[in-house]
Amino acid sequence: MEKILVLDFGGQYNQLIARRVRENHVYCEVHGYNVFDLEAIKKFAPRGIILTGGPQSVNADDFSVDGKIFELDVPILGICFGAQLMAKVLGGRVDRAATSEFGRTELDRLDGSRLLDRMSARSTVWMSHNDRIVEAPRGFSTTASTEHCPIAAMEDDARKLYAVQFHPEVVHTVEGSVIFDNFIDICGCRRDWKMSSFVETKIAELRSTISGRALCALSGGVDSSVAAALMSKAIGKNLTCVFVDHGLLRKNEADEVEAVFKNFDLNFIRVDASQRFLTRLSGVTEPERKRKIIGEEFIRVFEEEAKKIGAVEYLVQGTIYPDVIESGLGKAAVIKSHHNVGGLPDHVDFKSIVEPLRLLFKDEVRAVGRELGLDEKIVSRQPFPGPGLGIRIIGEVTSEKIKIVQEADAIFRAELESAGVKSNQYFAALTNMRSVGVMGDGRTYDYAIVLRAVETTDFMTATATRIPWDVLTRAADRIVNEVKGVNRVLYDCTSKPPSTIEME
Ligand code: XMP
Repeated sequence: MEKILVLDFGGQYNQLIARRVRENHVYCEVHGYNVFDLEAIKKFAPRGIILTGGPQSVNADDFSVDGKIFELDVPILGICFGAQLMAKVLGGRVDRAATSEFGRTELDRLDGSRLLDRMSARSTVWMSHNDRIVEAPRGFSTTASTEHCPIAAMEDDARKLYAVQFHPEVVHTVEGSVIFDNFIDICGCRRDWKMSSFVETKIAELRSTISGRALCALSGGVDSSVAAALMSKAIGKNLTCVFVDHGLLRKNEADEVEAVFKNFDLNFIRVDASQRFLTRLSGVTEPERKRKIIGEEFIRVFEEEAKKIGAVEYLVQGTIYPDVIESGLGKAAVIKSHHNVGGLPDHVDFKSIVEPLRLLFKDEVRAVGRELGLDEKIVSRQPFPGPGLGIRIIGEVTSEKIKIVQEADAIFRAELESAGVKSNQYFAALTNMRSVGVMGDGRTYDYAIVLRAVETTDFMTATATRIPWDVLTRAADRIVNEVKGVNRVLYDCTSKPPSTIEME
C-alpha cells in the first residue's frame, strides 16, 4: 500500500494534515518525530513525508533532528516549523520574525512553483509563526511571499523538497487543498485508498492474527458498533460483545442499544454496573481522575465478564485516530486522556487489545460502517464520550445529578430534533453551580443546566450552533418546568478552541 508519513513535531493541526491526505485517497499515518527514527521511517517506506508545525523553535538548544531524512530520496513537504526545519538543516537561516504573523494573510505566488501550481497569483492563507526563514538553502528558490514573510514558500524541485510557512491544512487557507493535491502528484501516489479496500484488508488481517475468543467493549456508539461489526465479520461467534451499562448513559439508552444488538449475529451480554461506578466515583471531582476511574472500572468489568466466558484472549476496543492523537502523540500537549486510550490501566488482563479502527477518522469509521451494512441510525449517530455523563456533570457524580442531566438532555435533544435544527453534536450538561430562582411564590436554590450544540467536521475545532431563539427558549422552559432540581438554563456559545466540546 502506498503511504505518506506525517512526521509530527507537536503542532495543533497535525491531525488535519492526515485528513487532507486521506481525502485524496492516499493512506497516511502520523508518527512523533522523537519516537520514529530514521530506521523506522525507512521501514515504513513512505512515498512522501510531511513535516508538521510545532511549538518549539528550530534554533532552540535542546532541539535536534536527524538531517539524513532529507537524503532519503523521498518527496518532503515541510509545513511551518517543518519548513523552518528544512531550511535550517539544509544550510539556510531561520530567525525570529520582526513581526509575527497569526491568522489570515495574503500570499503572493511567484511563477514556476510545482507545489503551488494552479494556485491563484494572490490568495488567502493561514499563518501562525514567530520564526521565519530568512535565507533559503542552496538549491532552493523562493516560490511565494507575504508582507512580513519574504520566503513564505520555497522549493528545490530537483530534490523534491518543498516548504510552506503557512498552514495549507486549515480551511482558512482557501486553496490549501491544491497544495496537497500537487504534493500527492509529486509523490506519484495512485490514490486508491478506499474504505472497501480497508474493510477487506482489515478482515483478512484480523482473521489471520486472532486465533481465540475475543470480547468487544460495546457502548452502542458509532466506533464500538463498527468495531464489533468488523470483528464479527472476521471471527464470527468467537466474538462476544459486552455492553456495560455504567449508569452514565443518556435516558433510555441502555435499552435502545440492547434492542439494536439483539438482532445481530453475535453473542451479546448486558451488564448493569451502575452501582459500582457510582461508588468508585463518590467524592471524586477532578475531571482527569474521573476519566481514569471510569476507564479503569470499564476494564475491570470486562475482565470479570471475560473470566465468566472463559478462554477469552483479546479485548476489542473502538479506539479511533483522534483518540490516539489527542491523548498525546509526539510532543502535542495532552488536552484530555481519552477514555479508550489514556483511561486504560497499566495492567490489563488480556493477551492483547485489538483496536481495528485505531488509524481511522470518524467519517472513515462511518464509511466502514456503511460498507458493512450497519443501520444508518447507528452509523450516523452523534458522538457520545466513553465516560458518558460522568464528564457532563461538573464535579462529583451522584445519582440525583445523573437523573437531572438525563432528563434535561432528553428534552433538549427532542426539541432540536423536532425543530429540524442541524448540529453535529448537542447535549445538556450539569454545572455544579446553584443559584436562586423563584417558582410559584417560593424561592428555589437549584442547579443550572448548560446546553451545548456544536458545528464541526473533525471534532478538533468547533463553533457553537446558532439555535433559533424560540427553539432554545422552548427547551429552557421545558427543562425548568419538567426537571426537578433545575431553575436556570444556560447556552454555551464558546468555540473549540479555546473551549472544548465536553465540559471535562
Ligand atoms: P472534546 O471535549 O475533547 O471532545 O472537545 C471532542 C470529541 O470527542 C468526544 N470525546 C470522547 N470520546 N472517549 C470518547 O470516545 C472520550 O473519553 C471522549 N472525550 C471526549 C466528545 O464527545 C467530542 O465529540
